[in-house]
Amino acid sequence: MSSPKTTTTCLPASTHKAELPENALVLPPTRQLQSLLTIIRDEKTHRGDFVFTSDRIIRLLVEEGLNHLPVVDKKVTTPTGKVYDGVAFQGRICGVSIMRAGEAMEAGLRDCCRSVRIGKDEETYQPKLFYAKLPEDIANRYVLLLDPMLATGGSCIKAIEVLLEHGVEEEKILFLNLIASPEGIQKVCKRFPKLRIITAWVDEGLDSNSYIVPGLGDFGDR
Ligand code: URA
Repeated sequence: MSSPKTTTTCLPASTHKAELPENALVLPPTRQLQSLLTIIRDEKTHRGDFVFTSDRIIRLLVEEGLNHLPVVDKKVTTPTGKVYDGVAFQGRICGVSIMRAGEAMEAGLRDCCRSVRIGKDEETYQPKLFYAKLPEDIANRYVLLLDPMLATGGSCIKAIEVLLEHGVEEEKILFLNLIASPEGIQKVCKRFPKLRIITAWVDEGLDSNSYIVPGLGDFGDR
């Protein structure tokens, strides 16, 4: 395997136990992040605390996702009259939540990007059929695809296929996720090698019901 990609705030996926693809990035396993994950994993945590705490993790994921977007040079003049050589984001973005649990991540995205366009990728009751409500100009945007739990990878793969059908370039898709299974990451990254996954944590695996373990149970129910 060639040298792992690193960013200023992300550790390479190899920090975690499982050997993971290069296009999977894991947030640094800081004490803060581990304490937040401990709260949302605890079966005794009440709904209000679960929502508040998962929103904090989602903000960390969104901020890291934004680090991967291209910037252009931008000079501004500060109130002291001096020029600051800064940067500005170059491309436009769109958040796409995989229904229903992905919708829970929209608030965290809006907290960081106030005017962000949000699309939906909805799983219908017919398996493998998705109904997409996406902005018309989505092909010209970077897409932050949102789903809190990456288990088998099935709905994520389907959602990415829908985005590609709508003209989005694979390298412009960033999949933001709270907890991933090693199986799900392998499957999605192998199928879409140019896409990037940014996850807060990689768990041990899946149980016989395809729940992530240790996981946090059903995200929507929590
Ligand atoms: N979706 C969830 O909400 N939890 C899991 O463990 C897997 C998929």
